[in-house]
Amino acid sequence: MTLGSVPLATMDLQVGSGGRRNPTMICAPLMADSVDQMLSLVRSAKDQGADLVELRLDFLKSFSPRQDLETLIQQSSLPTLVTFRPKWEGGQYEGDEKARLDALRLAVELGSAYVDVELKVANEFFNSVKGKKPEKVKVIVSSHNYEKTPSSEELGNLVARIQATGADIVKIATTATDITDNARIFQVLAHSQVPTIAIAMADRGYISRILSGKYGAFLTFGTLEAGVESAPGQPTLKDLLDLYNFRQIGSDTKVHGVIGNPIGHSKSPHLYNSAFKSVNFNGIYLPLLVDNVANFISTFSSPDFVGYSYTIPHKEAGLKCCDEVDPIAQAIGAISCMTRRPDGSMMGYNVDYLGAIAAIEEALRAREGTNGAASPLAGKLFVVIGAGGAGKALAYGGYEKGARVMVANRTYDKAKELASKVGGKAITLEELENFHPEEGMILANTTSVGMKPNIDRTPLAKKALSHYSLVFDAIYTPKLTRLLREAQECGATPVYGTEMFINQAFVQFERFTGMPAPKQLIRDTLAKNT
Ligand SMILES: NC(=O)c1ccc[n+]([C@@H]2O[C@H](COP(=O)([O-])OP(=O)(O)OC[C@H]3O[C@@H](n4cnc5c(N)ncnc54)[C@H](OP(=O)(O)O)[C@@H]3O)[C@@H](O)[C@H]2O)c1
Repeated sequence: MTLGSVPLATMDLQVGSGGRRNPTMICAPLMADSVDQMLSLVRSAKDQGADLVELRLDFLKSFSPRQDLETLIQQSSLPTLVTFRPKWEGGQYEGDEKARLDALRLAVELGSAYVDVELKVANEFFNSVKGKKPEKVKVIVSSHNYEKTPSSEELGNLVARIQATGADIVKIATTATDITDNARIFQVLAHSQVPTIAIAMADRGYISRILSGKYGAFLTFGTLEAGVESAPGQPTLKDLLDLYNFRQIGSDTKVHGVIGNPIGHSKSPHLYNSAFKSVNFNGIYLPLLVDNVANFISTFSSPDFVGYSYTIPHKEAGLKCCDEVDPIAQAIGAISCMTRRPDGSMMGYNVDYLGAIAAIEEALRAREGTNGAASPLAGKLFVVIGAGGAGKALAYGGYEKGARVMVANRTYDKAKELASKVGGKAITLEELENFHPEEGMILANTTSVGMKPNIDRTPLAKKALSHYSLVFDAIYTPKLTRLLREAQECGATPVYGTEMFINQAFVQFERFTGMPAPKQLIRDTLAKNT
């Protein structure tokens, strides 16, 4: 069976002509208690831009096969994929197997565009519909693995077994226990000779659902609502279409992303994807939930995986994976950005400090009414809480500007190490509570204490804040952290982490695309998403 033998709904598409750049359809899985509810979900799926709907019969509370299937298939305004998933394959249905297969045969007879049959029963199913299956009805033969993603060889064998049943469309859904598992799923799609759906489920498989467009999958699933999923890790239809600009993903689309763990909170995908779109840059930017940076970089070594931002806790590990590193990143010992050069090598940068220090200087000048060329940080006592990637960036930045740097950190040894590199002093978090050798000090929090969802936490008690004239917080979700709110109440000038984020976003955008950053759009997008 070849791609050409299947009248894909998508064959009408003018790929690359400004409409869609990939043939992958978006299917909305519908789970409803009743037929009426399911039909109302079909309308919602159509309004949201889905190409087809998966009718999950196993979720219906009561089901009269002939009457309900006729109603659903005939009244659906989108092509239907009928699935009746049994418990033994991860679905809800626990009833009689013959009744289940009878319902699937009926769906074939009634002309559902697609019918999903599990590999275990596929041979039996095809024998029973021999000569009775309308040509226009396509059977998807599926296999689900809820534990892991098997080896490439095992996946290859699985595809062959599915094809051997006579499947029109192959479906493989595995579970990603590491982001590198997605690479094997992409391999299946890239090498497949038949229309194929290949997905790695769960958080670590999220990218398989988005990049399915790049690798030419038959379809990907997009939910009507966040959290209402038929399988773990599904994106919403809205995110597929609006955030990831799914229709414009092509086989030549360059892949970027933010490498971190956790990564769900990151606003970077909103920011870069809308910025890429605004300048017609053929790139995508993904949240990359990475456990081991070295494994990620060595696995995704294709020339299309070109640029990454780094966030907590991988900035130091990222540096070790670079072929070359800029001198500031080398001094700091951490990178915030990595790009692939044309020869395939990886270049690391640290642009964290640029944005934060510029924002602090600007706020100090405004507060002090000064406008000279000298940095207003020069000579000031600059207290940095945290000694991770952002802490190092701020401490080096302050040192470069002539500030007297103090470093406070939970792990005191790290504070001592960093302080010694920037000619400063280390202090414990407990000592910091009563530390006020002078008035008008500058404070920079670079820990994640107070970040969403733990917004009630703060790295320094309010009573200690009155000795500072300016307080910066690297956290940008939420924008106004408890630390900044209390600092403001004590009379200090707050400087938001969003400023650091925005300034480094400008620099990273330029490194990724080679084009000037659409600054106002980036500011507006961030304002909308924090
Ligand atoms: N605005 C921006 O553009 C921007 C840029 C970069 C980072 N950030 C933010 O800055 C924060 C740190 O990022 P990073 O990349 O520097 O992370 P990192 O390298 O992992 O460092 C984390 C730092 O936070 C400290 N820490 C973590 N949990 C703590 C706790 N419960 N109590 C006290 N200290 C704690 C760690 O102390 P130990 O050494 O004791 O573990 C370490 O000093 C994050 O919130 C991140 O979102 C913002």
